[in-house]
Amino acid sequence: MLDVEGFVNESLESIKAQVSGKAIIACSGGVDSMVSAALVSKAVGDRLLAIYVDSGLMRKGETEEVRGMLQEMGINFKVVDAAEEFFSALKGVTDPEAKRKAIGERFIRVFEREARSFGADTLVQGTIAPDWIESGDGVRDTIKSHHNVGGLPKDMEMSLCEPLRDLYKDEVRQVARFLGVRSSERQPFPGPALAVRCLGEVTPENVAIVREACYIVEDEIGKAAASGGMELPWQYFAVLLPSRSVGVQGDRRAYGRTVVIRAVCSVDGMTATYAPIPTAILDRISSRITNTMKSQVNRVVYDITNKPPATIEWE
Ligand code: XMP
Repeated sequence: MLDVEGFVNESLESIKAQVSGKAIIACSGGVDSMVSAALVSKAVGDRLLAIYVDSGLMRKGETEEVRGMLQEMGINFKVVDAAEEFFSALKGVTDPEAKRKAIGERFIRVFEREARSFGADTLVQGTIAPDWIESGDGVRDTIKSHHNVGGLPKDMEMSLCEPLRDLYKDEVRQVARFLGVRSSERQPFPGPALAVRCLGEVTPENVAIVREACYIVEDEIGKAAASGGMELPWQYFAVLLPSRSVGVQGDRRAYGRTVVIRAVCSVDGMTATYAPIPTAILDRISSRITNTMKSQVNRVVYDITNKPPATIEWE
């Protein structure tokens, strides 16, 4: 059991010792980066600049929501619109690891630019224990190179500060509640964002489909859980497959894309079981997705694999 108050006090002291100049952090709005930002901001005030990078890969409404949270928390922040830059770095890239690398590198380059103009010499990251354990610590095999570890370019000129490095997700949530960070109850969201839920090439068109599908899955499952129809899973989202299958539109054969519904129960993301979703809710999600995106999506499937052997995300 984590001594939350003790962790926070120790962490503030060690951040003060570590950050003598100015620091920069990418705030995605997820619990890891928001708690890191809250801690560092408490320790060094406006010597921290939180950057929200609008990569064009975020969920529906996310940019405005994160802006609101940062404002509320009194953190010094800036929103950077870098969507064009990300999509051009991802052009033609289909390999999952290459995507992560391209995204990680873009992020770092955007930060470096912002860091230079702010005069920052420390990069704060919301890395938590499963990120670096699963990214290979020299003992385990690499499962996935999570962008905030594996994609870090070797020529990065800033020193790293990772206040949550030894915590697991449930512990980060405890710290978030203690600090009053509003994102504390949000579900986890991967650093490379919707890019790893968009199998194949990551184009603005593909991201728009998976963004809407993710929104529908989140909205329907959120409503169902709120009304007691099911338990809220640990993580729940949609994935867009690159292949096309046959369907019917009116009285004609039409090829369309497939959306996967993924929902899992987990404690820390290291292992997971698929979340049972009642048929009536699956039905609603399926109809809403195919009605909203009639000309693009003609098939919705439900992923019933655990981790292991699968991982939670599809890439
Ligand atoms: P997997 O798919 O590896 O996911 O079973 C475990 C947890 O980690 C999240 N995830 C990521 N988080 N950068 C992140 O910060 C990443 O590249 C990344 N890939 C997966 C995933 O959403 C799940 O919560």
